[in-house]
Amino acid sequence: MSTTSHIRKNGDAIPVAASHDLRRQTVCVTGAGGFIGSWLVKLLLLKGYNVRGTVRNIEDMKNLHLKGLEGAEERLILYKADVLDYESICLAFDGCDGIFHVASPVTNDPEKVKVAVAGTMNAVNAAAKSGVRRFVFTSSIGAVHMNPNRSSDAVLDENCWSDLEYCKKTKHWYCYGKMLAELVAMDIAKKRELDLVVVVPPLTVGPMLQPILNASCFRVFTYMRGTKKAYRNAVMALVDVKDVAQAHIHVYEVDPNASGRYLCIATVVHRSKFVQMLSEMFSKYPITNECEDKVNPRVKPYKFSNKRLQELGLEYTPIKKSLYETVESLQEKGHLPPAHMLLVSPRIPSSL
Ligand SMILES: NC(=O)c1ccc[n+]([C@@H]2O[C@H](COP(=O)([O-])OP(=O)(O)OC[C@H]3O[C@@H](n4cnc5c(N)ncnc54)[C@H](OP(=O)(O)O)[C@@H]3O)[C@@H](O)[C@H]2O)c1
Repeated sequence: MSTTSHIRKNGDAIPVAASHDLRRQTVCVTGAGGFIGSWLVKLLLLKGYNVRGTVRNIEDMKNLHLKGLEGAEERLILYKADVLDYESICLAFDGCDGIFHVASPVTNDPEKVKVAVAGTMNAVNAAAKSGVRRFVFTSSIGAVHMNPNRSSDAVLDENCWSDLEYCKKTKHWYCYGKMLAELVAMDIAKKRELDLVVVVPPLTVGPMLQPILNASCFRVFTYMRGTKKAYRNAVMALVDVKDVAQAHIHVYEVDPNASGRYLCIATVVHRSKFVQMLSEMFSKYPITNECEDKVNPRVKPYKFSNKRLQELGLEYTPIKKSLYETVESLQEKGHLPPAHMLLVSPRIPSSL
């Protein structure tokens, strides 16, 4: 077996399997049938990994696309597992080299906070028990940016954390759950000496592999359908789903000393820019061009750093391309009618 040598931060040289050896490893992706999980499974298979994917219902139509991925027949095994069921997670993780813990409900339902947190505790404990090489956790920008005391000039980076009390007070339960889950993961990993690395994506867009509409693509869908009558005077951070999946693989593969958080943000834009990009590409759809706020100046996009992932070699897809591919896949999967089927109606200002 060929090996290369890498230097730890403390100066010791350690042998590290060359990347082609890494790709003979067995890794497990939780939430394999979801938007990000499906792309991660696809890229891992293309790289030659033996992949295990956890889903809650193997026979559900929404997971059938996984069986059609290139390499799936030879190297993908699906495990029925609920993150709240510790034994089912242990079975899926047993004998794995690495874990990608992606599964978590993407909803603002306060009832789901316990799924995010207890599910992560189970996953981290099961990974520690199996003695995996590295545990990659999918966090969220919700664990980073929800802090009213941060200056508008501050650069958002891996040192930034949301304010849990603020999330609670403002009922941002998704952000609250993701941040608690990340903190809990770090705490258990430290105690159990598990190698934990965290990828932190913002609103993720791009082509869907799965047949059902996930929450972040639904955001694009609402603008395309014209159900959103006006946009907020606010900014949004965006990234492509393929880049998020690749980021998970980069932090797993590239640097044996990778640790802590990695912000995976391609861009931050005002909502006006977001709707402008969609309107320019899809002018026949009833996309609003109205801002809810007719009084205040436009909120300025905040500064951010995506340096850590860039240093690992991650290149970001231009967001206009990602938005184009999101809409294309909404059409292909039958969620949106193609442009030529639309009844053309004039945009009517919401004030009328
Ligand atoms: N999309 C984004 O904009 C975005 C941004 C930042 C972070 N993230 C994070 O990325 C991860 C994936 O999100 P996504 O956008 O791919 O959402 P998604 O398509 O809704 O996928 C979520 C996955 O979690 C699984 N899951 C939920 N509850 C579960 C449980 N109790 N046991 C086992 N699996 C469970 C779902 O499985 P079922 O199909 O069985 O429900 C699904 O596969 C989440 O951790 C999310 O917080 C997403």
